[in-house]
Amino acid sequence: MTRTLLGLVGSPRKSGNSELFIKELFGHLPSGWQLKLIRLPELDIRPCLACYQCLFGEMKCPRDDDFQLVLQSLMEADAYVVAAPTYFLGPNACLKRFLDRGLSFYAHVDRLWGKPAVGVAIAGIPEMEGYTKLCVDSFIKLTLGDLRGSEVIYGALPGEIFLGEGGREAASRLARALTEGREPTAPSVPVCPLCGGDTFRFMEDGKLRCLLCSSPGRYGWREDRLGIQTDPMEHSFFLTYEEVVGHAHWLRSIKEQFLARRQELKAVTQGYGAVGTWVKPEKAQERS
Ligand SMILES: Cc1cc2nc3c(=O)[nH]c(=O)nc-3n(C[C@H](O)[C@H](O)[C@H](O)COP(=O)(O)O)c2cc1C
Repeated sequence: MTRTLLGLVGSPRKSGNSELFIKELFGHLPSGWQLKLIRLPELDIRPCLACYQCLFGEMKCPRDDDFQLVLQSLMEADAYVVAAPTYFLGPNACLKRFLDRGLSFYAHVDRLWGKPAVGVAIAGIPEMEGYTKLCVDSFIKLTLGDLRGSEVIYGALPGEIFLGEGGREAASRLARALTEGREPTAPSVPVCPLCGGDTFRFMEDGKLRCLLCSSPGRYGWREDRLGIQTDPMEHSFFLTYEEVVGHAHWLRSIKEQFLARRQELKAVTQGYGAVGTWVKPEKAQERS
């Protein structure tokens, strides 16, 4: 039976590094896989309206755009790979545009949960990827994938990531992670024991917070290694299937909270209604 790898290309550049990386990775998979590609920046994915309709009734987003195409493709895929170019120290905004519609994922937890997924953050200048990898990891976790690995690759010109050997080796490693699971070797940098994230906010008194799963924890030196310990917290978005389902229930309960506190909230908001003047485009429809 043919299995489908979905490649989500986060770059508008045709035959750019993000696209090439996904195609290279596909080449390292064993036979029996097909590759489907989506170029996210060329799709019409509009902002979330915060209407919460996707959480109730038919559980469908009322916006008529390309969001459902991507969601459907994710649900149909057996595994996926996300590749994002760094734009100003973060990923191309197409990733976040899609994720912002993510309340819709809670209607499809069973079809999304636990698919093998890997990611790559591409940056033109060494060490200048900013928070791109964190966002790629977060994209995979929030789309409920099983994050098997992610890497940062450097190269500015289209194809440059493969001028040295590092890029192809990374593609091969991530292909192996997709089919065989996470590498058993100890990670080279400190990671969150709960989610595998490697970005933290360090605070005083040895406290920290994982910026991928948001879990609080502690850090400390053991000889010359930095040790990280994190604790599960009440509001996990993606650590276990049960927590995802629990979070969906909690989100739905917000409607009752809103209805119960409507008068109290109105008393706050109405005082601000007439403050300020909104600046708006006059002829937005004439733009290209
Ligand atoms: C608008 C813009 C902003 C960029 N910002 C950064 C940056 O902050 N850091 C960096 O290392 N590279 C930056 N780059 C370079 C790209 O990340 C790099 O060229 C990458 O290979 C593009 O991937 P692609 O070929 O898949 O489009 C930027 C490129 C563009 C077009």
